[in-house]
Amino acid sequence: MLDIYTLGDEVLRKECSEVKVFDSALKMLADAMIETLRDADGVGLAGPQVGVSEKIFVVEIPDNDPIVFINPEIIQTSIETSPYEEGCLSIPGVYFNVIRPSAVTVQAQDVTGKPFTIEATGLLARVIQHENDHLHGKLYVDHLSEKDREKAIKEYERKNRHHGGRRRK
Ligand code: NI
Repeated sequence: MLDIYTLGDEVLRKECSEVKVFDSALKMLADAMIETLRDADGVGLAGPQVGVSEKIFVVEIPDNDPIVFINPEIIQTSIETSPYEEGCLSIPGVYFNVIRPSAVTVQAQDVTGKPFTIEATGLLARVIQHENDHLHGKLYVDHLSEKDREKAIKEYERKNRHHGGRRRK
């Protein structure tokens, strides 16, 4: 199981670098991220959240197989938007409504380097956008109004005041 880094950890704010080597270490990282995601009962987990500043995230939504996205790029977003109450394993216990495009098309590579394209809607589209933000040092609270962002951070601090920094799963 991997450590999950939380709000305030610098690694969450860094721009990630491209994955260039598709080796067994990458496959092991992806597998460990899926295990960590399941253990934490989440739907998505990105590299920076486990201290890895590389363009990788994993998604597993209920009743679906896990998907590993390497070097993802959102190439199309719908004009239609929708609200959804988001949470983040790096900001545990806090949930806020975020408005995002309802559908996206994403291009990425799998763990072997093979390219694929997914046209996603619903929860999958939501999680892809949230995780993709992580690869650019962005958190879902950045999408909130200033007032709501302050509220979210206060709530996070109140709920997590007894264990600062890293959380061992
Ligand atoms: Ni997150």
